[in-house]
Amino acid sequence: MAQNWTPSSWRGKPIQQVPDYPDRAALAATEAQLATFPPLVFAGEARRLKKQLADVAEGKAFLLQGGDCAESFAEHGADNIRDFFRSFLQMAVVLTYGARLPVVKVGRIAGQFAKPRSNSHETQDGETLLTYRGDIVNGTDFSGAARTPDPERQMMAYRQSAATLNLLRAFAMGGYANLENVHRWMLGFVKDSPQAARYRTLAGRISETMDFMKAIGITAENNASLRETDFFTSHEALLLGYEEALTRIDSTSGDWYATSGHMIWIGDRTRQLDHAHVEYFRGIKNPIGLKCGPSLQPDNLIALIDALNPANEAGRLTLICRFGSDKVADCLPKLVRAVEKEGRKVVWSCDPMHGNTITLNNYKTRPFERILSEVESFFQIHRSEGTHPGGIHIEMTGKDVTECTGGARAVTGADLADRYHTHCDPRLNADQALELAFLLAERMKTGRDEKETAMSLNQAV
Ligand code: TRP
Ligand code: MN
Repeated sequence: MAQNWTPSSWRGKPIQQVPDYPDRAALAATEAQLATFPPLVFAGEARRLKKQLADVAEGKAFLLQGGDCAESFAEHGADNIRDFFRSFLQMAVVLTYGARLPVVKVGRIAGQFAKPRSNSHETQDGETLLTYRGDIVNGTDFSGAARTPDPERQMMAYRQSAATLNLLRAFAMGGYANLENVHRWMLGFVKDSPQAARYRTLAGRISETMDFMKAIGITAENNASLRETDFFTSHEALLLGYEEALTRIDSTSGDWYATSGHMIWIGDRTRQLDHAHVEYFRGIKNPIGLKCGPSLQPDNLIALIDALNPANEAGRLTLICRFGSDKVADCLPKLVRAVEKEGRKVVWSCDPMHGNTITLNNYKTRPFERILSEVESFFQIHRSEGTHPGGIHIEMTGKDVTECTGGARAVTGADLADRYHTHCDPRLNADQALELAFLLAERMKTGRDEKETAMSLNQAV
């Protein structure tokens, strides 16, 4: 691997999943202009997230990462952002309460635009065009014009990310996330949702606790941790030209940071050791993720960890495992053992979405049972290996869509046609996301109870 890293050293490496821009001069001009724009995030924030993730690596916190598969230009509005954030906060509160652990909150948002694809071309009625690669690259319409990669879209993605991040910061710090509002986050529920009843009960308990604290002098006015929350952004850093333009030196530390988001990850299709994406990622100091699919072998993973986290810094690297409910038992234990044997500090996170996609009635969907099953296996494997199930990574929305089947208000195969709105992969709807959070909270509570029982038994002898 080349010794000298620069924000552009990836350009000398083989690369997967790059769009073929017909107008190279326009692309270069766009990248040059982006390089003059303000950073979207500040290096100090990325360091703060890294510190929180170091706690996750040690089992002292839990990582909740989620959002759209792909953000879109058409759905860029305040309601969408608010509905997502509300669902996300509900999940976070359920997890915090259930697990009695701080929840590190990372959205797949404000930058999640570029998509890797299995096929470069798509044929419909005898016509063959380039595939859609996310709104930052081209458009979904099946026409030559829409499918041509257009650099101008990078400007739109940058501006949309800035506006989205601005609103999220306002929500997180400006009062919306105040725990006194825990009941108000009920608003989005569909009537008669089983999760609504469950959530109401939990919100009632939190309110009682808050009333007690108020009585002893701890209020949201005098205590920022009741009033505010840390919310971070993340996306797959696939489009390296865009990322390079937003890679900046932090003046406090002199280090390079990706400033397109707090955390960025490498996809399962672009994690080749000597290729461009790994080269780019090794030089930036942000917390990063690595998607781990069924083809990843233990020695390969260790080599990637050597390249991406040579200092073995806790919080730097999150391994986002996406095997599928039928493969997780085969794939995960051998990776966990290799990492443990080598003493590498990582966050283990479970993406139960991407390995569980099927086609039903011509829709790409994901059965909720399989999603739950992969999460259950993930927890169980970590328990038997003695390692920490650090977090989950999900595709979700705050809306009442019908994209994944199952859940307590069972979405059936026939329902998929009703509200199938995703631009890419099927997402959990607000109800399914919350149901998953309740289940996770129960699992973590069991883990905690087992630990406490073991400790009190130890004390007894
Ligand atoms: N500041 C704490 C945290 O972020 C508590 C908190 C405030 C919170 N608002 C929240 C937790 C909303 C979950 C959801 O964890
Ligand atoms: Mn996806």
